Amino acid sequence: MLKEQVLSALEQQKGNIVTGGRLADSLGVSRTAIWKAVRQLRQDGNEICSLQGSGYVLARTNDTLSALEIGDCLTTGFIGRSMALLPTVHSTNRYLKEAGTESMPDGYVVIADGQTDGRGRKGRVFLSPKSGGIYLSILLKPEKAQSDVRLLTICAAVAVSKAIENVCGVTAGIKWVNDIYCGGKKICGILTEAVLSGELQELSTAIVGIGINTGGVPQELGGIATSVLESAGLQGVRNRLAAEVLNRFEAEYLSYLEAKDNRDMLGYYESRLFIRNTHVRVSAAGADYSATVLGIDETGALIVRDSEGVVRHVTAGEIDIQLI
Ligand code: BTN
Repeated sequence: MLKEQVLSALEQQKGNIVTGGRLADSLGVSRTAIWKAVRQLRQDGNEICSLQGSGYVLARTNDTLSALEIGDCLTTGFIGRSMALLPTVHSTNRYLKEAGTESMPDGYVVIADGQTDGRGRKGRVFLSPKSGGIYLSILLKPEKAQSDVRLLTICAAVAVSKAIENVCGVTAGIKWVNDIYCGGKKICGILTEAVLSGELQELSTAIVGIGINTGGVPQELGGIATSVLESAGLQGVRNRLAAEVLNRFEAEYLSYLEAKDNRDMLGYYESRLFIRNTHVRVSAAGADYSATVLGIDETGALIVRDSEGVVRHVTAGEIDIQLI
């Protein structure tokens, strides 16, 4: 599509003037066609200035999601190679579930600019303001029968932490099991959902949903959440960061599928587990106790020592940890 090609050409010269004539020549269209494409791009929310008689400039701060730009930054073999980019959707996880995943390829990704009904663990609402984050879901069809939702969440947490550190240059800590924190506040949540099939109810399809705050954080979350932008003082990183999350996720996922053990992945996870050696309150089905976090085991369960000195392995889905 012409407008995507114009955006890509302007992206390559972000902050600099590109003349209408040069764009027209390089894309083999008229200057009027370029002007119309720029008008559409502006309607999509891109910040493009036209300088009378000299050309167009894409603002350095421009942060519109673009499938083309994400594609340019992808180094994956299959994750994100088929992708849908939506202006707004109820929830990217729900979109995949309702779309009938059988016909979609392994590694299919849906990314939205905003969600009206974003969901977190335990059915909680995940606020997803338009243009305020990266909301994406990855469809996986693992052959590994023992694939496990908790370890897929750990793959995603490691991938997001590495991607944020690489693109934004800030340390991204992990709070077991599915939250990423920067500067003491939540920056990202992960929701992995399994589709089980067959007599043994094996995991045949999984959906890994990742929500990263990149823009202004809704006022009601100001105290507990932050954004990549606020933490790193960065703008215009959404496409690069989205692609890097997918790149890193594929690397973690492939080594998870191939590995006999997941020592590297779990080792990285533990190195970013900022609740390690701290006192926490564990609320598990029916139980509620104080404990010290020791680390995670090979299944991704959290290892804690309670006040009686008993070492316990806490599994996902049944606990709620509060820092005390
Ligand atoms: C949590 O904080 O408990 C997890 C939040 C997960 C949010 C992401 S955004 C993309 C995907 N779509 C959803 O509805 N949820 C996940």
